[in-house]
Amino acid sequence: MSRKRVVILISGRGSNMSALIEAAKSPDYPAEIAGVISNRADAKGLAVAAAKGVATVVVESKGQTREAHAAQLEKAIAGMKADIVCLAGYMRLLDEKFVKRFEGRLINIHPSLLPLFKGTHPHQQALAAGVRVHGCTVHFVTPEVDSGPIIAQSAVPVRLSDDEDSLGIRVLSAEHRLYPDALAMLASGKVRMEGGKAVFGDFIEREHDGATVSSPSPRPEVTDLESLARRTP
Ligand code: GRF
Repeated sequence: MSRKRVVILISGRGSNMSALIEAAKSPDYPAEIAGVISNRADAKGLAVAAAKGVATVVVESKGQTREAHAAQLEKAIAGMKADIVCLAGYMRLLDEKFVKRFEGRLINIHPSLLPLFKGTHPHQQALAAGVRVHGCTVHFVTPEVDSGPIIAQSAVPVRLSDDEDSLGIRVLSAEHRLYPDALAMLASGKVRMEGGKAVFGDFIEREHDGATVSSPSPRPEVTDLESLARRTP
């Protein structure tokens, strides 16, 4: 099996990045992590990636136009010979040319059940709307933010006692399971983007936390946040 080379773009702590790196350690996972790129030198995830033996590069976005930053990013991604690019808490908007160039190979995770609660503070938005079910989405990236074709989603019940933090912790645990599964679907050709839509191939559907995902893929290590979530009443 030839494994797809994946570059992960981060701006912060990189817990989703860690979940992807851990999943890719399994020899039957269809992708390998070629490197991690951050637009901020102070991103905590950089040290985490390096400690896990993954190459890291900083492509500063500060003081750069969106176009100039995208051009440097493209160079760094080409240097890592990436087949797929995963945004994992990447806080810089990407320019349209970049997004179009990587169409079908560029995916993102957003902590809401899209198309609900796009943009910032999705947990706050969910609580304000009074929804009983919230969750996370992995989608293809298109020029319009948080609007690309959906690959996979995971539902998380909203508890009456929830505040933004408690809900966010449980959604983040779901993200850590969903993102590796969604990346595996793309890397193994079980989903692709065609005509502005996600097109799904033949695969065994199974349920986890309400998400429809592909046949078995490895689970990331249980993170501190997950054990924290289990303690949440
Ligand atoms: C996650 O909630 C992700 O869905 C959103 O930004 C957050 C990044 O967290 N896009 P981390 O850096 O992966 O821990």
